[in-house]
Amino acid sequence: MRDLTQDRGADLSRVRQSFRRGAQSYHDGAVVQTRIATALADLLAANADQPHLGRVFEFGCGTGHLTQAVGARFELGTLILNDLVPEMQAQVQGILRPGDQFLPGPIEEVHPEGSLDAILSASTVQWVPEIAFVLERLCAQLAAGGWLALSGFGRAQFLELEALGSNAAAPAYADAADWPNLLPHGMELVHLHQERIVLTFETPRDVLRHLRATGVNGRAERGWTRAQLRQFEAEYTGRFAVPGGVSLTYDPVWVLARKR
Ligand SMILES: C[S@@+](CC[C@H](N)C(=O)[O-])C[C@H]1O[C@@H](n2cnc3c(N)ncnc32)[C@H](O)[C@@H]1O
Repeated sequence: MRDLTQDRGADLSRVRQSFRRGAQSYHDGAVVQTRIATALADLLAANADQPHLGRVFEFGCGTGHLTQAVGARFELGTLILNDLVPEMQAQVQGILRPGDQFLPGPIEEVHPEGSLDAILSASTVQWVPEIAFVLERLCAQLAAGGWLALSGFGRAQFLELEALGSNAAAPAYADAADWPNLLPHGMELVHLHQERIVLTFETPRDVLRHLRATGVNGRAERGWTRAQLRQFEAEYTGRFAVPGGVSLTYDPVWVLARKR
């Protein structure tokens, strides 16, 4: 019998493989994640009353969309970046300066050192089922007045795929209403916002290509036969046709909190 730890290990390795494969195409293909990261950086800049952030930790940095957006809006002291995929270090190497760090591995097992002034993460928390524990540990390292700026996805994420019985969903979708309970004690919620972004693709096959290019279908466990693919395409078109093609729904949630 498999235990939970084994299942999580298998999940992590699938997710790692999927994002590693998508690393090259991710940066350009992830149009929605780029918009989300930019909006998160704007949110932080609009609320923070300082031009400088001292020690900044970002988990799930990927190819650096959020890192760049925050770097464009603040003077940063030390930057500590993390991603599950060790190869992401090469993607963010151009952003790192002497003294900055990249810590590879699942955030559940990664421990940045010392006091932090900001904890950042865009489009990653949905991959971390233990996110409440992770945030409790990390936020304990935040200095008073330090910021937590996050985005994740709500339960309507990829509702089309869910409706068609896909098993590719991330394990921890959380709606805006869930976030007050996920935040550690001592964190004051400053902003919470959930708003769907719906993309149109010409065909369901283009949806699959988009998902593959952006690595977000990491939990799909098996390839499809031709017949299954045709059935998927027919059902997708039948249920989710929109002018110009078919829809794909993203359901981002933005969270900004401050340590009391
Ligand atoms: C959708 S991408 C977001 C990347 C970047 N933050 C952005 O906004 O474009 C999600 C990233 O989270 C990473 N990831 C997934 N599970 C993780 C975990 N448990 N710990 C750390 N990173 C993780 C993936 O490798 C991937 O690079």
